[in-house]
Amino acid sequence: MAFVASEFMEDLDKLKSEMLGQVAEAADLAALDDVRVAALGRKGQITGLMKSLGQMDPDDRKAAGAAMNVLKDAVAEAIETRKFELENSGIDERLAAERIDVTLPVRPEASGSIHPISQTIDEVIAIFGEMGFSVAEGPDIEEDWYNFTALNIPPDHPARQEHDTFYVNAEKDGHRKVLRTHTSPVQIRTMQSAKPPIRIIVPGRTYRCDHDATHSPMFHQVEGLVVDEVSHMGHLKGCLIEFCRAFFGVDDLPVRFRPSYFPFTEPSAEVDIGCTREGGGLRIGHGDDWLEILGSGMVNPRVLENCGIDSTKYQGFAFGVGIERIAMLKYGIPDLRTFYESDIRWLNHFGFAPLDVPSMVARAQLGS
Ligand code: DAH
Repeated sequence: MAFVASEFMEDLDKLKSEMLGQVAEAADLAALDDVRVAALGRKGQITGLMKSLGQMDPDDRKAAGAAMNVLKDAVAEAIETRKFELENSGIDERLAAERIDVTLPVRPEASGSIHPISQTIDEVIAIFGEMGFSVAEGPDIEEDWYNFTALNIPPDHPARQEHDTFYVNAEKDGHRKVLRTHTSPVQIRTMQSAKPPIRIIVPGRTYRCDHDATHSPMFHQVEGLVVDEVSHMGHLKGCLIEFCRAFFGVDDLPVRFRPSYFPFTEPSAEVDIGCTREGGGLRIGHGDDWLEILGSGMVNPRVLENCGIDSTKYQGFAFGVGIERIAMLKYGIPDLRTFYESDIRWLNHFGFAPLDVPSMVARAQLGS
């Protein structure tokens, strides 16, 4: 069979446009691979043509070989391009199918809330923070000396019995640590480690062996301590009146100081706020009744001396507030035990939105 160069070239052109057409029409990767095998595979059309080069005379073979290489490269390149397109269109389809609308609101049952205890502690910190207090902390498992003795509660003191202390198992030498019965031991730790002027509050967990509607074996307090050369009972009163009014959000809240006794303060006072009880309900503010909310007093000079602070030069005041108690009063929570039940319905009702961050600045701007 005589070889006619021009016809061969025309055939190649036809073949090329046929094959490029098939490549373009391949609808998915599998179809594209069929096209590739039919063209470039071992038994493919182009491969077959390549084999036929052997029968040509040398000059024709050169020209035909070059033309066939061009065809082969063009088809191979078109296949690669189409392959890339098909692979990417697969990703685009998946992205479209699996799209997640991140602007959708979360499902109600998945939303969390801030526990009233945490919220109340944050509020107390915000108020005292504005007054220049900083936050101090101490261990829950405490030495007897810090929890009692250094606070002027010696071993035979009746106040020890009132505290219903949880004791931790004795160590080898017989000495027993306690679960702190109040946050007051952090007063001692702070006075030992910092020099006056001192102005701290101490929010934290406290423990007493007591359990009923108004007592829990674990509860929370906030301790306050100011030690410097000038602070007196007037400062104590001003500071605590301001705190009560800011915390309960009642600008003219009546606050009463009633003489009391604590071993670590002298003189001592319990603080009451005004309220009314009408028809079983309780309202904080002006009224004919009083509610006790915290203990306070001038730091006993003996306590200062126990911490190595010169009581002829320094003085100050201290106070202790029960967190659950003020939270119950402010938010109308009737039973103390519910704080620790982790009942999701209770948390939904009494909890706070995560972004409801207490701020004294916001309060002032709202004019409340
Ligand atoms: N620690 C006392 C208690 O748990 C509360 C208290 C009263 C703390 C008077 C004080 C204070 O710092 O001055 O009952």
